[in-house]
This record gives sequence, structure tokens and C-alpha cells, in this order.
Amino acid sequence: MKTVRIHEFGDESVLKYEDVPVPVPASDEVLVKIEAIGVNRADATIRRGAYTFNPDSFPVTMGMEFAGTVAAKGDEVSDFSIGQRVVTYAGTGGYAEYAVAKALRTRPTPAGIDSRTAASVPVTFLTAWCGLVEVAALKAGDWVLVQAGGSGVGVAAIQVCKQIGARVVVTAGNDEKCARCIGLGADFAINYTSKDFVPEVMGLTGGRGADVVLEMVGGDVFTRSLEVVAPGGRFVSIGRAGGPVPDKAPELPGGRSATRFFVNTYLNERPEGYRHIDTFLQRIGQGGYQVIIDTIFPLSEAAGAHRRLIGREHFGKILLVP
Ligand SMILES: NC(=O)c1ccc[n+]([C@@H]2O[C@H](COP(=O)([O-])OP(=O)(O)OC[C@H]3O[C@@H](n4cnc5c(N)ncnc54)[C@H](OP(=O)(O)O)[C@@H]3O)[C@@H](O)[C@H]2O)c1
Repeated sequence: MKTVRIHEFGDESVLKYEDVPVPVPASDEVLVKIEAIGVNRADATIRRGAYTFNPDSFPVTMGMEFAGTVAAKGDEVSDFSIGQRVVTYAGTGGYAEYAVAKALRTRPTPAGIDSRTAASVPVTFLTAWCGLVEVAALKAGDWVLVQAGGSGVGVAAIQVCKQIGARVVVTAGNDEKCARCIGLGADFAINYTSKDFVPEVMGLTGGRGADVVLEMVGGDVFTRSLEVVAPGGRFVSIGRAGGPVPDKAPELPGGRSATRFFVNTYLNERPEGYRHIDTFLQRIGQGGYQVIIDTIFPLSEAAGAHRRLIGREHFGKILLVP
């Protein structure tokens, strides 16, 4: 089968389109014949060797999430049948025609949801839901600041906030992305290239600040986002797309809390959380959530997908198809 692997860390040129044997599922795994693969910022960070949890040996096959059909399964797997349509947050291995995934991390794809839509869901919606609702205890009426509203996670976060009944302010790097965030339900969108988000958020919230901040950019944006957390507010740092973040979240005064959140670690400790995928897909089927697919690249052009992601041209999800 074809796969895309790296044998060293580096720029897009280290992504190699290669032939390898089809993997064999372990007793608790399914083998998925892949139809679509979600590309995540973390893939590019792993490729560069800059990820928080760097792989310790090569070759590495990236691809955290993918959708397709069950081609084989291990002895202990009773919840899935051969040929069944599934989606998984496998964590790794997805840049390929076939990949194995723990059955525990895999969910059925319902009728009416295509594999491209399904593959866009696990990482973004699980991160947004668990980070905002379960960790930050988001509730109706809260003010939320979502940094990078046009990112894969940002697009999901806007919609989770609106479902809960929160008021959501986003930042984005151009006016078009801002308009698209508003189109998804954001109440306010700040183009951070022309306006400083700190006074904007303080003004919108009557000087109080945001009850919840979802931060994923890092660097100066991380530091300045701390300035807009309301008394009793919850700051959740999930990423560092543009700059460093401290390993440990800072102590904040005034009943405010700050958390560094990793959805993979969180769900490893709470595997029942993968079942949220069922709810997300159901809601998508009913038109309650939108999946925004920016671009679809052939697997052989994974380098192009990474370039588009790093270039920040995209809005929503980038996919690969074998
Ligand atoms: N902790 C977790 O469990 C978890 C899970 C998933 C994702 N994440 C993190 O969440 C973030 C979003 O992930 P994603 O896959 O949705 O990413 P993405 O689609 O690649 O979006 C990242 C966005 O960040 C914005 N950004 C602002 N300043 C930037 C800078 N200096 N360099 C690069 N980007 C900058 C860009 O939007 P503008 O052009 O509008 O500025 C960019 O599109 C990433 O940091 C990722 O690592 C964390």
C-alpha cells in the first residue's frame, strides 16, 4: 500500500510517498481502508521535530484522524464488523491507504455522513468540546474569547460555544476569515492585524473580560490573553501555533484558573469521551454543526497540504485522500 512517512525531521521535503506492507491489527484494533484523513497543525509540528511529545524513532507515519471502512479486526473486537464505515482518532498512522486504530478510539460513521466530513471531526470537535465544556465548564451567557477562530479547532469551538449559549469573540488574521467566523455564529470577530484584541475584548465585555479564553497561538498572544480573563474566568491553553508557551500554566489571581490542555492525554484517561464523536456526527447530520473543508489534497501531495496549513491560507480543515 502507499503511505507518507518521514525518516528525519525537517521541512515538507521530508514527507516521502512510499510503498509499505498493509499493517496487521492487534487484538484490540481495527484495520481501516482509508477514504479521508484529517490534517492537523500537530502533524506539521511533529514533522519539524518540535512537538510536545516527539516520536523517538523513525520512520514516522503521521495522521491522527481518518475515516473509511473496516477491512480487518483483532480477535477482541466485537463492536465493529468488516465493511462497516468508521471514523477514528487513532492518534497516528493515518497518512496511508490502510491504518490500524484502537477499537476504543473508533466510532461508526452514520448513514448520510461521508468519510470526508467524518475525518474532519475527531480532533477539532473533541478538543473544542472537552476543552470548553468539560475543562472550562462553559455555560450559557459566558463570554468566550477563541484565538485563531479560523483554525480547524477554532471553527469547531465557535459552534460549540453557540450551542451552549455563550457569547463568542474570535480573533483571525484577515477580514475574510473574520467574516466567515461571524457566518458560523461568532458574535464578534477581531482582525488582530488591524486591532489590538485586549482593549477590544475588555470593551465588549464592559471591562470585565472573558469568562473563558481558548488560546492556541502562544508567544505574545498567550501572555496578552491572560490580561482579558475575567474574575473567576478559565483560561485554557491548547497550542502554540505561533510561539512558545510555558510548560506549566501560570497561577492567576482573583479566582481565575489557567490550564494546559491536551485532548489526547485527557481522552486516554477518559476513553468514554470518544463517544462524543457520535453526538458530533449526529448534530452535523441534523445541520446543527457545520464542517468546513478548506482543501482536499491527494495523499501523494501531503507536502502541499502542509504548505497550505503553515501558510495560514486555510479556513477550517485540510484533508488528504489516498
Ligand atoms: N492541546 C490539544 O489537545 C490540541 C488539539 C488540537 C489542536 N491543538 C492546537 O490548536 C491549534 C490549532 O490547531 P489546528 O490544527 O486547528 O490549526 P490550524 O488550522 O493550522 O490553525 C492555526 C491558526 O493559528 C493562527 N495563527 C496565529 N498566529 C499564528 C502564527 N504566528 N503562526 C501560525 N499560525 C498562527 C492562524 O490563523 P490566522 O491566519 O487567522 O492568524 C492559523 O490558521 C494549534 O496550535 C494546535 O497545535 C491542540
